Amino acid sequence: MESSKREPLLRELKDYLIHLKDLGYTEIPCEANLFANAQQSTGFQQSQPPLSTNEMAKSLTAVQKELGDCTRCKLSQTRKNIVFGSGNPNADLVFVGEGPGADEDEQGLPFVGRSGKKLTEIIEKGMGLNREKDTYICNIVKCRPPGNRDPEPEEIAACKPFLVQQLKAIKPKVIVALGKPASSTLLGRTVPIVKERGTWHEYEGIKLMLTFHPSYLIRFYTLENRKAVHDDMKKVLKELKR
Ligand code: URA
Repeated sequence: MESSKREPLLRELKDYLIHLKDLGYTEIPCEANLFANAQQSTGFQQSQPPLSTNEMAKSLTAVQKELGDCTRCKLSQTRKNIVFGSGNPNADLVFVGEGPGADEDEQGLPFVGRSGKKLTEIIEKGMGLNREKDTYICNIVKCRPPGNRDPEPEEIAACKPFLVQQLKAIKPKVIVALGKPASSTLLGRTVPIVKERGTWHEYEGIKLMLTFHPSYLIRFYTLENRKAVHDDMKKVLKELKR
């Protein structure tokens, strides 16, 4: 094949592979029509296209506008409010949680319930930062999974492109993944969080720290776990030179 024909094809293939990666795939699926199969398997009809993530960074407002009144997965059928994220759009530090709970669903804001109080305490008392001024907080899924169940892979895949664009828009110096689902989603593999918390990773050229989710800390409120999160946040502050 002539190189003038091959190059656009290769570019298209590269874009498609990046798109699959952003949807959370870590292997190349064999099915010819991946999206048709995904729709059939979930029985949920996507009425909106997934957000393409292989373009220039959009502003947070543009990402939120594109998310719109999202119906890309079945969580839209039971949510009260979309929880996009909150904080400083230019923050050096972003916390990524799992998904909204009942309080967040009610208010449309992330981490405003019990785990939110704990996260605020970690940020403000533990790190000496201001939650609204110094951080941005969001989740891997923007709608509440009913009964606070774990988000399903299809739900994460439908929502991940928006998280990717949020991070691209904010360009923080450090991301902190709170718990296993956030860590696994950002790293594209299943993360054993007890083993890997406290370790540095990289997400799209940004330093990524993995730590326990505040709700884990509330549930297992041991000196050891509290010290672990404290140590992890000390590493983050050092990286931020704060
Ligand atoms: N837990 C999360 O992971 N995110 C929230 O926004 C609230 C609780």
